[in-house]
Amino acid sequence: MSDVLSLPVQLISSTDSPTQAAGDALVIPVWEGGGPTSLEAGVDAATEGLLSKLRESKELTGKLYEATTLHVPGQLGSRILLTIGCGHREKWDTGRAFRCAATAAKALAGRARLKINWAWGEVLSGEAVGQAVAGSLVGGIGQDLYRADKKMFPAEQGTWFGVSEASFKQGRILAEAIQLTRKLVNLPADEIYPETFANQARDVAGMLGLECEIWDQARLEKEKCGSLLAVAKGSAREARLVILRYNGGAAGAPKLCLVGKGVTFDSGGLSLKTPDGMLTMKCDMAGAATVLGAITAIARMQLPINVIMLAGLVENMTGGRAMKLGDVLKARSGKTIEVHNTDAEGRLVLADVLDVAREQGASKIVDLATLTGACCVALGLDVAGMMSNDEIWQQAVLNAGKAAGEPLWPLPMFPEYNEEIAGNVADIKNVGNGRWGGAITAAKFLENFVGDTPWTHIDIAGPAFGDKPKPWLDAGASGIYVRTLVELAKSWK
Ligand code: BES
Ligand code: MN
Ligand code: ZN
Repeated sequence: MSDVLSLPVQLISSTDSPTQAAGDALVIPVWEGGGPTSLEAGVDAATEGLLSKLRESKELTGKLYEATTLHVPGQLGSRILLTIGCGHREKWDTGRAFRCAATAAKALAGRARLKINWAWGEVLSGEAVGQAVAGSLVGGIGQDLYRADKKMFPAEQGTWFGVSEASFKQGRILAEAIQLTRKLVNLPADEIYPETFANQARDVAGMLGLECEIWDQARLEKEKCGSLLAVAKGSAREARLVILRYNGGAAGAPKLCLVGKGVTFDSGGLSLKTPDGMLTMKCDMAGAATVLGAITAIARMQLPINVIMLAGLVENMTGGRAMKLGDVLKARSGKTIEVHNTDAEGRLVLADVLDVAREQGASKIVDLATLTGACCVALGLDVAGMMSNDEIWQQAVLNAGKAAGEPLWPLPMFPEYNEEIAGNVADIKNVGNGRWGGAITAAKFLENFVGDTPWTHIDIAGPAFGDKPKPWLDAGASGIYVRTLVELAKSWK
């Protein structure tokens, strides 16, 4: 993992003419409907009207994510031309800038095309520059960490023409953060377990000068993290809690707290998952990996804010000492929890981590967790659910998602849902009475541990990990919401 936080790619910003520049490929964005950009017109002129002919025959439409590879020997400085459909101009935003650039990178990565020219100046301004650059860097990287015969070949050099410098440099920082998250999620659970995840976090903290505190098993016991530790009991791997601090703001200024679920493998415990349900459960630490990725970017951008990141790390297994149905746990906060399903383990982990977050002086908390299949039932696989105890804070997170172009959707938190998780012998139980509203009852459970602190929970069970590739993304970890958290830190007041 020594390459973590430094992608081996050279980025250049240029004001030369993109059509004449040498390279393996020239990438241009094209709109659906409306007129061509002057870039498209320029390339059209340089290629004897090739693009307008293709437009006329409807081979080229500009539909979102349509990638067309064209061979134009001798007419351009680059060997090939790639057009990327960017959809309708009115719908263009930072999210599309990221995904369209990633689509181009992925389309090109099918072969070794090492030097890419990006003529995107005309469609990018402000923040979108950094987002597109980030997309261009991560889009070409696949999940095939271990395959000798790689399917994707990321570029070695990207030259961007006519983009404003301001957010250009942020592209690499965002990409490296997203790639850190993706890599940690894609690595198998036999490599990334609580101890090794914590080691990665410590290394990253060392590189960036973040304060780092790691609670091992003994410390977690001393701190009475009975809920988190109960989940770890069935595993041969010890639990860990990672606390990273970035102090970019004034001493004593409000602290943004990022909390992540880090179940490095979720077998379900004694409430065992089916083989199909278990297959991708190395992804159950995506929340932890996302907050780690985000704090690296926030620190490298030197944002003027104080951030604490907490990751609760356990493996949910079925060993001889595993927690059992009917067990009563005592959480760090003192609340007692009845275990009705050992597969509802994420909330047990977060119960104690949220309590620590409060004690650490969090002003506002956002947690990310691959928490419930029910959230996927509610919103599908591409949208995270969000639940909160504070409308203003929820709106701030929603706005950050909008600014990053990553989809979030709020679910209600009516007090009536509390009846679902009332305990029979203890204060609360770890699942609802029935299975309806499962994403919400999980959030209601978490709400018990945040006190009065404004808190927003993001259930990323759907979008964190994909079985199938998308035009802009290989299958596997998505690294989604790293950019949202960075936007949240940027908008912090
Ligand atoms: N890690 C799972 C949720 C999950 C499902 C994440 C699919 C990613 C993809 C979580 O720990 C879990 O097992 N939740 C249970 C809760 C239930 C027992 C109340 C679920 O969703 O089935
Ligand atoms: Mn589970
Ligand atoms: Zn889980």
